[in-house]
Amino acid sequence: MDIEQIRQDIPLTDEFIYLDNASTSLSPRQVLDAMYEYETHYRANVGRGVHRLSQITGQLYWDAHETVNSFINGKDGTPVFVRNCTEAINMVARGLTFETGDEIITTVSDHHSNLLPWFTLRKQGVRVNVIAPSEDPAHASVTAEDVSDAIHHNTRLVAISQASNVLGTISPVREISAVAHESGALCLVDGAQSVPHMKTDVKEMGCDFLCFSGHKMLGPTGTGVLWMQDESIEPLLVGGGMIEEVTIDGYSPASGYQKYEAGTPHIAGALGLRAAITYLNQIGVEEIERHEALLAGELIKGLSDIEEVSIIGPPAGKNRIGVVSFMVEGMHPHDIAHLLDDQYSVMVRSGNHCCMPLMQHLGLKDGTVRASLYLYNTQEEIQTLISGVREIIEGI
Ligand SMILES: Cc1ncc(COP(=O)(O)O)c(C=O)c1O
Repeated sequence: MDIEQIRQDIPLTDEFIYLDNASTSLSPRQVLDAMYEYETHYRANVGRGVHRLSQITGQLYWDAHETVNSFINGKDGTPVFVRNCTEAINMVARGLTFETGDEIITTVSDHHSNLLPWFTLRKQGVRVNVIAPSEDPAHASVTAEDVSDAIHHNTRLVAISQASNVLGTISPVREISAVAHESGALCLVDGAQSVPHMKTDVKEMGCDFLCFSGHKMLGPTGTGVLWMQDESIEPLLVGGGMIEEVTIDGYSPASGYQKYEAGTPHIAGALGLRAAITYLNQIGVEEIERHEALLAGELIKGLSDIEEVSIIGPPAGKNRIGVVSFMVEGMHPHDIAHLLDDQYSVMVRSGNHCCMPLMQHLGLKDGTVRASLYLYNTQEEIQTLISGVREIIEGI
């Protein structure tokens, strides 16, 4: 992995130490070039015209879906382009038909985007069971046994994130999918924090839905994916572009991703996402995983050596991603984040990370400081963060 080359592709890495990748990632110039090329060389709408520009754009837009499908080994399913992971989860929540007494299982460590769409179904009489890890919550994720204990005949869906955006823990989604299916329930995996960083194989995972954000994997903002095994949910939007036939009495929907993408999509974004995946593939996701594990190990070790710092999450090792949350005794997380930016140009996130129930569960009223890594981060950057935290503490 040629980090110098990667950093040259991403000019912002020259100016800032960007460690807020769980929030959104930076895009290499190849992604921006793909979007620029579309705008300047063949801009047209998709699926509508027979003219040359529309044909080129339509083909590339189709290819972008194929690229996404290959990336997650999802060829048997349908990848729908959406604005972000949140929209993907909402599409499932609104697209399934629920009855009073149906139940959904999710977890206390899930992001608001994998909680609120289910909470809204409570007004329809759907019960939302928010389960918590049975082990030390700061170190553990929900296990298949936890799900198995909670599941019963009314459970329609288990919705779980594969990797936590606060703790960095990885959930056993394959086993959880199997438990859900044994009880006749569906399984939705929120892959916002896993797909950009880990080899993803929906076949192996066995889930029914996989939701993720393009902008967290080098793609443009405003891009995300809902992958579904079967086209069994109702589309959220109807109108142009998603039909087979329309009469004054009604319509029949198209099949494939078109059914779920009514209206003109974010075409430049889709082509940017295609370029982002091509870029990730050229480097190799396993390489990226190894690199991030090395950096996460150094970061956890360096921070753990500082007496006033506590890591909120599992130790370095296999079953975690490069999202490292920590607290500094006697200091507010926002103050640390401000000082790291101000004095060291280090960008980290602070606060509740859209996981208020988890913070309540862990008794962390001010949240945490969170450093989240990606392929372009370096060992030097990690050392700057560690020494920055140390100096900030010494300077109090
Ligand atoms: C685990 C998880 N799920 C969902 C989301 C929502 O992603 P988006 O903002 O792209 O909708 C995030 C964003 O941080 C996340 O970390």
